[in-house]
Amino acid sequence: MKPTLAALSLAAITAASTLVTGTASAADDPIVIKFSHVVAENTPKGQMALKLQELVEERMGDRVVVEVYPNSQLFGDDKVLEAMQLGDVQLAAPALSKFGRYTKKLALFDLPFLFEDLDAVDRFQQSEDGQELLSSMEKKGLIGLGYLHSGLKQFSSNEPLRVPEDAAGMKFRIMSSEVLEAQFKAVDATPLKKPFSEVFTLLQTRAIDGQESPWSNTYTKKFFEVQPYITESNHGLLDYMVVTSAEFWNGLPDDLRDELKAAIDEAVTYGNQVAREKDLDYRQKIVDSGRTEIITLTPEERAQWLQAMKPVWEEFEDEIGAELIDAAYASNRGN
Ligand code: LMR
Repeated sequence: MKPTLAALSLAAITAASTLVTGTASAADDPIVIKFSHVVAENTPKGQMALKLQELVEERMGDRVVVEVYPNSQLFGDDKVLEAMQLGDVQLAAPALSKFGRYTKKLALFDLPFLFEDLDAVDRFQQSEDGQELLSSMEKKGLIGLGYLHSGLKQFSSNEPLRVPEDAAGMKFRIMSSEVLEAQFKAVDATPLKKPFSEVFTLLQTRAIDGQESPWSNTYTKKFFEVQPYITESNHGLLDYMVVTSAEFWNGLPDDLRDELKAAIDEAVTYGNQVAREKDLDYRQKIVDSGRTEIITLTPEERAQWLQAMKPVWEEFEDEIGAELIDAAYASNRGN
């Protein structure tokens, strides 16, 4: 039997009212912010994310909820920015090395031996040049909300690495960065771009010979258990940019955006504190495990790595900008 006109209009009215109710209740629901990252919770980034979740719950819990997805549970860094543009994730803090598809400028932070310590990194990031980089991806729909430290990187490997020649012919996992690719090629090693979630297995099965990470990632992801040598090289930086999508961010009510930004700043300060405090702690835990030999370079040995890798700066000078490189280098104390 065909439905009558009256039955059809009733169905239409019911559907319309369901829609209105749905919209109204959705407006009352708290805004959900999915924060996706790839590291363990007991790392600077893991702690920053949890601190943000706590601050948001305390201060605006009725309006916003932060859901944190660590350990690549939701997205790996190869997908997270696309997911953000599609509205599937609202916050992330990928390594500065992972924005190559969106801007060439951030490759600056990958240049080997650019920063002597985290104080120099802070000075540069807080400078006008550093702050400008936060908006370098706005045309691509991504807004940088701040920088977060992980720390300076060390090499780990199956064989002792004292001088650049020791790395020749070895396979190293790298993040998806052309600068890091050039850095390993400069010492005749083979760089392989692989997701962070695969590094442990690649090392364990000896599909690769080594990797580079700050102490916190090497410890929390247990790389040291399958790498007999770590060279304390402090040759490069692993730092993050906390990012959101322009569409999401600009769509927030002004007062909420301000409150949220304040909470993010506070969580970043906390994460940076964790980065500084935990660095030596994780190094010590690795020493205490007795599973890995930590190689300390003499100043002459370190100078050889610098000499071998420094030509990478020139290779990327046009893309990054010579003035930007000079400004970052000038943030070291001695310059
Ligand atoms: C890596 O891929 O090695 C890092 O970006 C992981 C991280 O987020 O610290």
